Parts: sequence; C-alpha cells; structure tokens
Amino acid sequence: MLLSLTNLAILSVVATVSTVEAQQKTGRTTRYWDCCKGSCGWSGKASVNQPITSCDRNDNPLTNMGAKNGCENGGQAYMCTNQSPWAVNDTLSYGFAAVKLTGQNEGTWCCACYKLTFTSGPAAGKTHIVQATNTGGDLGQNHFDLAMPGGGVGLFNGCTSQWGAPPNGWGQQYGGISSRSECDNFPEKLKPGCYWRFDFFQNSDNPDVTFEEITCPKVLTDRSGCIRNGQNPT
Ligand SMILES: *[C@@H]1O[C@H](CO)[C@@H](O)[C@H](O)[C@H]1NC(C)=O
Repeated sequence: MLLSLTNLAILSVVATVSTVEAQQKTGRTTRYWDCCKGSCGWSGKASVNQPITSCDRNDNPLTNMGAKNGCENGGQAYMCTNQSPWAVNDTLSYGFAAVKLTGQNEGTWCCACYKLTFTSGPAAGKTHIVQATNTGGDLGQNHFDLAMPGGGVGLFNGCTSQWGAPPNGWGQQYGGISSRSECDNFPEKLKPGCYWRFDFFQNSDNPDVTFEEITCPKVLTDRSGCIRNGQNPT
C-alpha cells in the first residue's frame, strides 16, 4: 500500500513537469549582421502600421519603404544600426532577429516580438527579447538568427558597400569575428552591439532557447517603427 502511494506521487510529479514543458516552445539560434534591408522592411508582409524602418548608407532612416536593398547592385537601403542588441542589465537584453517558425510565414512573425531564454552555453538562463525584422532562406524551423554587428554576413553582404568591411564582411562569412578587441575597429555606431556579444552574451555560440511571443515592448518598436495591428506596445 505504501509502495503504490509512493508510485502514484511520483507519477503525478512527472505528469506535472511534462505538462509545463509541453507549453514551452524550443528553438535554436545563430547570429548575423549583413547590413542588408530586412525582409520585414517591405510593405505587404504582415498586418502592421508600417514596415520595419531601413536606413540609407549613412544610417539615416528612409521614408521610402520601397527603396531597393543595398545588398543588391545600386540599392540604397540598409539595416539601421539601432537594430543592434543592447543589455538592460546582466540578465535582460533587447534586440532584433531574422526568424523562421515551424508551419508559419512572415505574415505571422514580421514585427512580432519574442521573449527568448537561452538554455545552453555561457548565457544560459538570460533573457533576450527580440523583434522579428527579417527572415532567411537558410534558416531552419523555430530558428532565431540574432542580429549582432560582427556576427557574420551569411548569404548576403551589404557591409562592404555600406561600411567598407572586408569582401566577406568582418571575420568569417558565417560566425563573424572571434574576439572582443576586433570590435574596436568597427564603425562607431556598430561598436556597442558588437561588444554586447562578448559582454552580455558571453560569446555564446548559437545557444538553444525556449521562447514565447509577447506584445512588443515600446523600446523595440520605437527603434523599428513597426507595430503589428492590434498591439499596443508599452
Ligand atoms: C533587470 O531588469 C529587469 C527590468 O527592469 C528587472 O525586472 C530585473 O529584475 C533586472 N535584473 C537584475 C539582475 O537586476
């Protein structure tokens, strides 16, 4: 009798734990900074007040949302430098990401915000809240490609035409630079986001995450200009 009660108690604990875990979505991350106009910068991607703001070569916000991507020949629209990550304190930071979610499309995630909690690597346990500004043809499912200057240009490179970065961008094409001191030579406005990777993020290498969608914080939409219809960021 005692034995079966104990077994029941253990069973109920296991059941409770697996219910909680089932509500958490898991995902993976990579990193990039390609300087290109994000795909959520085009009209018609999602139901929003206006697309993600892009900037000209000198980092001035563009009002023409149809401006050609600077990553194409003759294009003049680039990712604005203020779409870099920044830390509030040692456990919370904000930023932007290219996103791909299982079974969904840009209409679902463009300009949506996600609370990511790192679950592996040196930043495990820390929270990074991101707004989706972009997607990527090489992203997998439930994949957040975190925007951070010096994170590698990936498939496309606008950093050479915008900032005179080396032909494959700063550092490796995938993964970017490898040491904090390399940020010292970055354009002034990209330095803080470059240092974020080695300070708050502790140079994590593509950590896993759990994530949930949240109403966008105003600190993010103030930078991007994009608010999903029905949301009231505070
Ligand atoms: C970090 O800032 C957030 C938001 O202000 C706050 O809730 C949290 O307690 C802070 N964490 C630490 C360790 O100070």
